[in-house]
Amino acid sequence: MSIHQKQLTPAQLKNRQLVAARPYLIEQDWAAYTPEQHATWSELVRRCMPQLRQYACQEYLDGFQQIGLREDSIPDLAAVSAKLQPRTGWNSTPVSGYLPAAAFFEMLAARRFPTTTTLRDRSSLEYTPEPDIFHDVFGHVPMHAHPVFADFLYEYGRVCGSMAGRTDDLTRMGRLFWFTVEFGVIRQDGRTKVYGSGLISSHGECSYVVERGPEIRDFNLDQVLEHEFSISEMQPVLYAVESFQQIYEAAQEAGRRLG
Ligand SMILES: [Fe+2]
Repeated sequence: MSIHQKQLTPAQLKNRQLVAARPYLIEQDWAAYTPEQHATWSELVRRCMPQLRQYACQEYLDGFQQIGLREDSIPDLAAVSAKLQPRTGWNSTPVSGYLPAAAFFEMLAARRFPTTTTLRDRSSLEYTPEPDIFHDVFGHVPMHAHPVFADFLYEYGRVCGSMAGRTDDLTRMGRLFWFTVEFGVIRQDGRTKVYGSGLISSHGECSYVVERGPEIRDFNLDQVLEHEFSISEMQPVLYAVESFQQIYEAAQEAGRRLG
């Protein structure tokens, strides 16, 4: 390398190893966020946090602190990853939006979480049909600081990456993702706590679980793989694990059966 060439960071070097996902990788222009957008982030966090201090699992709350999330400003993904990577090898990597399955699984198997950088408008605080940085970072990324959950998500990506083109099996694996990563609950201290990003990042969904009480079943891989769900209504059934080791082993077992 000549002195005139820009030196690549370790994260940029690792991005070069991605093939299917490469067209979707972008830079986060953190300086371009407006004061109004930071205020919207802050309002979103303040809406959710009081409830989460009571009903989120401890691993989520610890992760929130460990990766340096703040109430008053939209996260800088490079700063988040600088705290996250030494813990579990995970990186919150900016992408342009939804990824095709192959690109998504490739990133998970490389411990890179595809992260959108746009933020919902203030008029849609409760719900946004597209993923945004609030759902992706506030909802997902704190759990990536937990070593067992981090290994589970890597294993999930690795297993799914080996199933290219097998639509039925990938649909089953999609259900495992839905009932764990997105809508997972865990029993802690005799209570049901939330860890799924869809519950963490939605005040309404979390309230529904806490106040109305969907049916909570013991986590069962066979049932989860066959359980069809609707994305357009509150979840009437959730699956509770006793530990994160349980979902790690479930991903491995799914790999043995379907991989
Ligand atoms: Fe999500």
